[in-house]
Amino acid sequence: MKPSNSRPSGGGKNPFVHELKLTMTEKIKIGLMSVTVFPVRLLLVSFLMLLAWPFAFTASLGRSEFAIEPQSWWRRFIDLCLRAIMRAMWFCGGFHWIKVKGQRVEPSEAPILTVAPHSSYFDAIPVTMTMCSIVTKLESRSIPVWGTLISYIRPVFVFRSDQDSRRKTVEEIRRRACSGGKWPQIMIFPEGTCTNRSGLILFKAGAFIPGLPVQPVILRYPNKLDTITWTWKGPGAFHILWLTLCQPHNSIEIEYLPVYSPSNEEKENPALFASNVRKLMAKALDLPLKDLSFDDIEISLSHGPLGIYDYSSLLEFNQLICRLGLRAATTDRVLEEQARRARKLQGDKLGLEDFAQFLSLPVTDTLKEVHSFFDEHRDGQIDVRRYVIALSTVRRPTKSMETLKLAFKMYESEESGEILEEELAGILEIMLGVKEVQLSSVSLTLGPDTGKITYDDLLHYIQQYPHFALDCLHFKDHPQDFCAGRSQSCNGQSRSKDD
Ligand SMILES: *[C@@H]1O[C@H](CO)[C@@H](O)[C@H](O)[C@H]1NC(C)=O
Repeated sequence: MKPSNSRPSGGGKNPFVHELKLTMTEKIKIGLMSVTVFPVRLLLVSFLMLLAWPFAFTASLGRSEFAIEPQSWWRRFIDLCLRAIMRAMWFCGGFHWIKVKGQRVEPSEAPILTVAPHSSYFDAIPVTMTMCSIVTKLESRSIPVWGTLISYIRPVFVFRSDQDSRRKTVEEIRRRACSGGKWPQIMIFPEGTCTNRSGLILFKAGAFIPGLPVQPVILRYPNKLDTITWTWKGPGAFHILWLTLCQPHNSIEIEYLPVYSPSNEEKENPALFASNVRKLMAKALDLPLKDLSFDDIEISLSHGPLGIYDYSSLLEFNQLICRLGLRAATTDRVLEEQARRARKLQGDKLGLEDFAQFLSLPVTDTLKEVHSFFDEHRDGQIDVRRYVIALSTVRRPTKSMETLKLAFKMYESEESGEILEEELAGILEIMLGVKEVQLSSVSLTLGPDTGKITYDDLLHYIQQYPHFALDCLHFKDHPQDFCAGRSQSCNGQSRSKDD
């Protein structure tokens, strides 16, 4: 048998994953729809999108990037046509009726709408209904057909390649927001990326920096089968389109919440403003807060036999080293170099001052926090090897074997290349983000009397178990503690019984 092959790493706490499981009936339905309704819908949707193009193109003629344009009759006419075409397009896509709760206020009252949770390209529905501006990458302008439609709503473009882009984007948002309602409202998805709607991740500050009132808008897709979610891990864009067009009806609910005006304190502190709006929206959605952000995606998607299991402490560590500016500066070369120096210390512990010297950084509060992160015995002394392992783990979350190799280089004995069992347990604790790792079944295979292991032996062993961490290790809060009867697949006997 193959245990736990469907369990995602991270203990299933990852909002950047969408696991779509179809029952037999659903599969049959989709099969039938695929050969009947789907081609017709796809044809109609494509036709309507192509039909929209000349309108959007005409409207964009003679337009200047920065000027507010007068609402001439023909622009209003084009706007009306485009809205009608877009509505028809969504209708053909199965969004037959769209439930709207609450009322959108005038741009002069709230120049910015903050929309969450962001989970799919279908989140464009409220945008095409309101023809609000959005914030988007410059590259999206060059998508055929759709790019022209995006340009039509006069988005605030983000220039990814530009060093100064963040500041420029925020400047442009501020400029438009402060125009007193002359520019269209801006819809901003403050999460900055798509999740699976299981919670609200951290909000980016952009929408909140101008310090003007915002109107929160919440989205719901109350469908039985979730074919909508398009996030980092899971079905891709075409897959989602196909499955959604195969559903008889797709529901979406848009709710406009009351305008939120920032207090003086919130005006000065955009992060606080963002956090308060986020809390309010989470409450209206009845969803938990997830303290993850765009920068954490890679960490929370680590997988493989040694993928991070519980990423909460590693994410905290990641935030600290970002603040110290170490994240960007850490290349593979830097890691190798630090590992070499850490090895030279031969397990000597470092106090705060020495640690600062090790990193060539001044002693600051943040550095103190990093230091105390590894202070196991609360005696102000750390084993810097543990720091290097953590750094390598968050810097290269998808390359856990490289991190393991690096760790061995710091610990192994020169003659035999072996490390002690306790040392391996300590390494794995950091890499997996768990506590109290026990290697009982690993050492069982390796001979309990030696208590030592080489990298090659371990590698060989790990390669046999795609879910090594879960199947072969024991640690605090291991999911197996809660479900008795799961096989001990690393223990030879019970495997042969199961097979
Ligand atoms: C969505 O994310 C949550 C964690 O936030 C996870 O538990 C859940 O399994 C995910 N849903 C799907 C359908 O993958």
